[in-house]
Amino acid sequence: MLYQLPLAPKYGELSNERLCAGIADFKRRLGSRLVILGHHYQQDDVIQFADFTGDSLKLSQLAAEHHEAEFIVFCGVHFMAETADILTHEKQTVILPDLSAGCSMADMAHIDQVEAGWPLLEERAEGPITPITYVNSSAAVKAFVGRHDGACCTSSNAKMVMERAAAGFLEEEPALKVVGLRYFNVFGPGEAHKGTVYDPRFPDGGLSAAQVRAAQVFLWKGHCSVHQLFTTRNVEAIRALPEPYAILVHPECEWAVCQGADRVGSTEYIIKTVREAPPGSFWAIGTEVNLVQRLARQHPDKHVRSLAGIQCLCTTMYRIDLKHLYWTLENLVGGRVVNRISVDPETRRWSRVALDRMLALRPAQPVSAR
Ligand code: 13P
Ligand code: SF4
Repeated sequence: MLYQLPLAPKYGELSNERLCAGIADFKRRLGSRLVILGHHYQQDDVIQFADFTGDSLKLSQLAAEHHEAEFIVFCGVHFMAETADILTHEKQTVILPDLSAGCSMADMAHIDQVEAGWPLLEERAEGPITPITYVNSSAAVKAFVGRHDGACCTSSNAKMVMERAAAGFLEEEPALKVVGLRYFNVFGPGEAHKGTVYDPRFPDGGLSAAQVRAAQVFLWKGHCSVHQLFTTRNVEAIRALPEPYAILVHPECEWAVCQGADRVGSTEYIIKTVREAPPGSFWAIGTEVNLVQRLARQHPDKHVRSLAGIQCLCTTMYRIDLKHLYWTLENLVGGRVVNRISVDPETRRWSRVALDRMLALRPAQPVSAR
């Protein structure tokens, strides 16, 4: 994880009103030179300044489409800003307002672990293997996947990508086995047994040669520290309430929670589902608290609550705040770039291969992960 140096004390002394007025003024002065992208988990204070909001797939597409903007300020986490840098023109500058805004899940697959484990896996698997990485991964891991004829996926298109990978991205070389570089609930109910968990903390991923030979899909062990907070007990507690709550969760929740839910999908899917739900309907949502609270505020005619009794906050997303956005834009107006996220050309080239495959397989509209 990168480290953000503390801002000068003067930024801490500015009121929210001053910060908001300043940001609005900097945005006006930068005009079309600037695009601000905001992930749905950003706090309301920040999201109000986003030109576009989205889930990680939509934001990747938006970054790729905005050729005109000289500066893309990414209000999200580090891997998202890296992805934006890979997908934009080299002349465009991508900025992350707080460098410490990382992702615990992305940190669970280090490129050194991936490179160390791969040769033995290939040797023992007795056939070609296609690597798939969840987009919550470093550019280095994405580049590895691109170099090995694999693809990235997001919560919006993970199932499509995995199915396509099983059929083979390269027609002349159909994949026999797939390595999903993240433990992630991409399969339909009852299909969890298809995955063999590869745990990088153990030699050979903790797998015997026979297990590797028998496996069809390897799942890299990792998880989202926020979504893991939702439990089957939460599901049972909601089911025990007298109100007819439907349970709607993000696929980063653990497998058993997804199994117990009524619907599973990306942040964009969650938003669409609540928006289209009839007035008076009841929703218990298993995802990051900023999004759940925003949905509750935006839909007062519906009953929206978190699936858990506790606040499931993505603390790294939360690092992007008004102060850091103000500081970033103030510097841009003054002709200085701070916190540039820049991926080296070789990594960029190969991670682009994996990302382009992800972008080619996108659903027409947000769909359930099941
Ligand atoms: P989405 O693709 O649904 O936005 O999820 C990204 C993420 O990191 C959620 O934790
Ligand atoms: Fe990463 Fe989880 Fe935060 Fe998403 S919610 S950015 S997966 S730590």
